Amino acid sequence: MTELHRPAPLDPRRHDRGAFNSGEPTLDEWLRRYAGQNRRHDTAATWVIATADDTVVAYASMAMTAIDRPAAPPEIAKGAPDPVPALLLGRLAVDREYAGMGIGTVLTAHVLATAVELNTKAACRSVVVTALNAAAHTWWEHLGFRPFDPDATGPADLYLLTTDIETTLRRIR
Ligand SMILES: CC(C)(COP(=O)(O)OP(=O)(O)OC[C@H]1O[C@@H](n2cnc3c(N)ncnc32)[C@H](O)[C@@H]1OP(=O)(O)O)[C@@H](O)C(=O)NCCC(=O)NCCS
Repeated sequence: MTELHRPAPLDPRRHDRGAFNSGEPTLDEWLRRYAGQNRRHDTAATWVIATADDTVVAYASMAMTAIDRPAAPPEIAKGAPDPVPALLLGRLAVDREYAGMGIGTVLTAHVLATAVELNTKAACRSVVVTALNAAAHTWWEHLGFRPFDPDATGPADLYLLTTDIETTLRRIR
């Protein structure tokens, strides 16, 4: 069994991303070319899980966002300002060689725990994701996320209320 580090902020000087292959080239390319830049510009924070020799096997990126209140489902809009504060889980990817080992779940749990912490310190009503495709949509629903528009066909934006995160964490940890 490969030894893996717990989730840590991406360190471009230390972490090797050269061979990362999630099966989604746009996600692999973003990790290699834009993750460091977004960190430097304070526009997205990337967290990685790496092997003992610092090869990245999974990453997640997050940024603060805001939800348009008039377009939000009632459980987000109720009693909230416009826009509604939220955390965007922008990207999540696991290297194919490490798929199905629970690593995506561990990294998602890390992001959800971050939302809970942010909510305590600055208020964050919900975590928001955009599903890349139908498989990703199923993945997010499996973690308790709900689509903003249940009638939409195809992959869409989904959310998980911060108040529902503990339920998801109890189920997946
Ligand atoms: C989706 C992804 C992050 C899952 O990562 P992973 O480490 O392979 O997933 P895990 O091993 O943690 O999976 C845990 C559980 O989720 C299930 N699962 C995995 N992919 C799933 C999917 N697309 N839909 C529903 N369930 C899924 C697994 O069967 C497993 O269930 P079990 O615990 O009952 O056995 C990974 O496949 C990936 O990087 N895909 C390409 C990029 C992508 O689609 N990213 C997400 C949207 S941006």
